[in-house]
Amino acid sequence: MPGMEAVIVDGKSAASVKHVEAPKLQPRSILVRVHCNALNPTDWKHLDYFGKQGATLGFDFMGTVIEKAPDAGTSVKVGNRVAGFLHGGWDAGVGAFAQYVVTMPEYVVAVPDSMSDEEASGLCVAGITAIFGLFQNKQLGLPEPSGTELPPVDPKLKVLVWSGASSVGQFVIQMARAIGAYVIVTASAKHLDWLKSLGASEVYEYSNSETPKRIAEAHPDLKYAFDTYSMNGSQAACAASMSKTEAGKIVSLLPFDHGAVTEANPMAKCTLFLLPSVSFMGIRTFSAEFKPYYCQEDAKYIVHVGSGQDGLFYRLLSSGLVKPNRTSPQTGGLSGILSGLDRLRHNKVSGEKLVYKIQ
Ligand SMILES: NC(=O)c1ccc[n+]([C@@H]2O[C@H](COP(=O)([O-])OP(=O)(O)OC[C@H]3O[C@@H](n4cnc5c(N)ncnc54)[C@H](OP(=O)(O)O)[C@@H]3O)[C@@H](O)[C@H]2O)c1
Repeated sequence: MPGMEAVIVDGKSAASVKHVEAPKLQPRSILVRVHCNALNPTDWKHLDYFGKQGATLGFDFMGTVIEKAPDAGTSVKVGNRVAGFLHGGWDAGVGAFAQYVVTMPEYVVAVPDSMSDEEASGLCVAGITAIFGLFQNKQLGLPEPSGTELPPVDPKLKVLVWSGASSVGQFVIQMARAIGAYVIVTASAKHLDWLKSLGASEVYEYSNSETPKRIAEAHPDLKYAFDTYSMNGSQAACAASMSKTEAGKIVSLLPFDHGAVTEANPMAKCTLFLLPSVSFMGIRTFSAEFKPYYCQEDAKYIVHVGSGQDGLFYRLLSSGLVKPNRTSPQTGGLSGILSGLDRLRHNKVSGEKLVYKIQ
């Protein structure tokens, strides 16, 4: 294959579109022609914090499978539309902001026909993070959705979603509702009605300092929280919202201050999920270290979650229980991505996913 265009890291906070070698099919892998990319905060963080020169940037992509290794299994076929993620901005030749990517079938989900390319491009980082955080045993460990229809709300199964309008939050609300949870959500005021339509039973403004106290008073039996913001002490705000008499679990998406969580509520235990741990190797990133055995558990769970049409995520999407993020299509293709990252970097994206058509 001739070369391709990709967003390549030039150094800390600097990247540009370059003509580079296209990735080659590996054993067990699939080659995907990328149609669309979606942006995530981790993209600019990889650029600014690590700035690994020569690495290809980008996590989220969607495209069409154009080639498949003979030993790549049956869950994905040539011609399938798939959405996936890579650990972009880390190694040379591995990144989603490119015309072609190589990945394994377990790291992609098949895209239902009803979903546009743009909507599908933002499925994986946020959606897979939501699934791991809610359902994996070492995180909240809640039961996975079993049917294809919404169950009635169980007022005893309460889940707090802190910052529900975030990309991850939109998925967490829908997935928690899909198991019949009574979903309590915080967000900014303008999003509260929309988040009810996604499945929130109760909504609060995160900016009101009284919110944790009000939630705790209304729900002294709240035992589960998913902190999809995970900054500026939001893990402690979750802890303060939860039961003071029963053991509770919080999942955080960024490293956090254990002491502050315990001080806010000694009954609440917070765990960290970081998507790059879903590889078979250990990894040290964002001041967190994951040993190989920990990553291998995550790599096994992704087979259950992804895997084209065979995994949990496809079942949730194809049944309509879970819908993609609200998308905001942008212009400029790969070259436009850098200005989008700047909007994310400056916290100027609210309740929508920036997506780019690549080819
Ligand atoms: N650990 C992992 O594997 C993993 C995976 C995905 C994401 N993350 C991290 O999780 C965070 C969320 O990711 P995302 O992709 O969902 O982000 P996103 O879509 O860019 O989140 C944007 C949302 O952040 C909310 N927000 C802004 N300021 C806030 C505040 N002070 N308190 C609460 N919410 C606030 C806004 O809510 P309003 O619109 O309501 O104001 C906005 O809609 C990021 O830090 C990201 O790096 C980690």
